[in-house]
Amino acid sequence: MRHPSSLIVMRGLASPRNRKDFTRMFTHRQRARNACLFALLLSLPLAAGADKLVIPANAPPAFQAECGACHLAFPPTLLDARGWRAVMGRLDRHYGDNASLDEPARRAIEDFLVRHAGGDKVRAPVPANGEPPRLTATPWFKRKHHEVPDKDWQDAKVKSPANCGACHTRAAEGSYREREIIMPNGRPLEEEDDDN
Ligand code: HEC
Ligand code: HEC
Repeated sequence: MRHPSSLIVMRGLASPRNRKDFTRMFTHRQRARNACLFALLLSLPLAAGADKLVIPANAPPAFQAECGACHLAFPPTLLDARGWRAVMGRLDRHYGDNASLDEPARRAIEDFLVRHAGGDKVRAPVPANGEPPRLTATPWFKRKHHEVPDKDWQDAKVKSPANCGACHTRAAEGSYREREIIMPNGRPLEEEDDDN
């Protein structure tokens, strides 16, 4: 006859093993799901409903420090490679400012921006006034903002379309969700049809 305690021992052994199997199964599914999400994020950076625009983690340290000093450190996917080369090739004449850097930092930032640049949808026209191209002039940016009236761009609290954080309250964290938008009149964005 089996001693009752051996049953307890057996149960005691069995349950952690089950738990381990369960954990393994769970982490496997979790991993598969994360892989799917990751693939989705990689493949759809500027697709309809692109409300996350985070700075890739491999940004050189100088990127936030230098390119986030006067304005938001803009997400690299918002301009194409040609556009970024044009911006980075004349930092001494930067939209009326001087944003010059030492060559190693300039080079590292340009390489990073070009590597993560967007495609044709974010190809900006070359401005007639000799300025570098603007990511706020790309077809993608214009399409996403076609409902924003001129008076909002010109509002004293906004001043420029490049001032993302004036309306996107969590732009600094890379989040551009509709419900996080507060328009210059102080009101959240009204629910409107978004035909993207
Ligand atoms: C000394 C301040 C300063 C620094 C540093 C700076 N910028 Fe700018 N940047 C400006 C100003 C001013 C504008 C024009 C803003 C406007 O018109 O609203 C601008 C505009 C831009 C624009 C165009 C935005 C638009 O209107 O579409 C891009 C792109 C840009 N900067 C990228 C960079 C990058 C990349 C770096 C880092 C290498 C950088 N900036 C560093 C001052 C700076
Ligand atoms: C004057 C306010 C304002 C400014 C400034 C502004 N936006 Fe927007 N943005 C909007 C509005 C309004 C929408 C449209 C939201 C909608 O209809 O879903 C929008 C939409 C977007 C979307 C699309 C979100 C989605 O779910 O598809 C992105 C991304 C975005 N903006 C990024 C930017 C970036 C980057 C900047 C700065 C370079 C910027 N915006 C500047 C008001 C603004």
